[in-house]
Amino acid sequence: MKGLFITATDTEVGKTWVTGVLACALRHRGYDVGVCKPIQSGNHLDDPEGDAAKLKRLAGVSDSVSDICLCALPHPVAPQLALKLSGLDLFLDHVLSFVGQAAKRHEWVFVEGAGGVAVPYLSDAWLVDVIQALNFPVLLVARAGLGTINHTILSIEYLNRRGIRVLGVVLNRGSDTYADDAPDKQISFLLERTNSDYIREATGVPVFGVLPNMSSCTVELEIVNAVEQNIDVLGIAKSMNAIYERPNV
Ligand SMILES: Nc1ncnc2c1ncn2[C@@H]1O[C@H](COP(=O)(O)OP(=O)(O)O)[C@@H](O)[C@H]1O
Ligand SMILES: [Mg+2]
Repeated sequence: MKGLFITATDTEVGKTWVTGVLACALRHRGYDVGVCKPIQSGNHLDDPEGDAAKLKRLAGVSDSVSDICLCALPHPVAPQLALKLSGLDLFLDHVLSFVGQAAKRHEWVFVEGAGGVAVPYLSDAWLVDVIQALNFPVLLVARAGLGTINHTILSIEYLNRRGIRVLGVVLNRGSDTYADDAPDKQISFLLERTNSDYIREATGVPVFGVLPNMSSCTVELEIVNAVEQNIDVLGIAKSMNAIYERPNV
C-alpha cells in the first residue's frame, strides 16, 4: 500500500484543500493519485460541503464519495467522540482495509486525517496510531501566518517521537487574500518567507511552499496552475518516488 497521510497543526488549517489540489496537480503530471477521508464528522456523506465531496471535486477523481469516505458522522466533534455519540464502533482494521481498497484502485492514496496530530480517532486508536499502521509518510499542513512556527515544530516533534517520517510542510494562506495595494502585504509575505526558513532550520523538514487562497479557481487548469506556481510539486513527487522506489516521471 503506497500513499501519503495529510495532517495539520489544527483543524480548519487547510488539509482538504491541500490534499485535493495537490492530488489534482500530481494527476495532471501523470501520477495516479486517489484521495481518502476515512472518517468525516459534521457532514453527511453526500453533503457538498463535506470533505469527501470537496476532495472528489478538487482532486477530480471519478471515485464515488463512498469510495472516498468510510464513515460520515453527524456530530462536528473529534471522530472517536462522534462515533460514541452515534453509538458506533470503528476499528483500526476497518480503516486499514478501506484504505487498502483505495490502494487497489490507485498507485498512491492521499489520506486526509481529522484535526491535528494528537486526535482521538477510532474506537481503538488515535490518529497517530493509524499513520503508524499505514506506514505512510506525512505531509503537514500549517497556517502561513503568525503562530505557525510553534504549532509546526511541536507537531513535527510529536510525529518524530512516534517514528513517523515527515515528508514536508505546506503552508496554507487559507481564506486570507492580499490586495495588491494592501499596506501589510509586504509584511505578510516576509512573515511567510521567514516562517518557512525558521521551520526548515529548526526541524530539517522541507517546506514545499505557500498555497494561496484559491477560491477563485473554478476549473482544473486554474487549480493546477496555481498549485504549480506556489508549491514544489516536483519536489513532493520526487520525495514520494524516493520512498517508494519509483523512477521520476
Ligand atoms: N487555499 C485555500 N483557498 C481557498 N479557501 C481555503 C483554502 N484553504 C482553506 N480554505 C477554506 O478554509 C476552510 C478550512 O479549510 P479546510 O481545507 O476545510 O481545512 P481542514 O481540512 O484542515 O479542516 C474552508 O472553509 C476552506 O474553504
Ligand atoms: Mg478537512
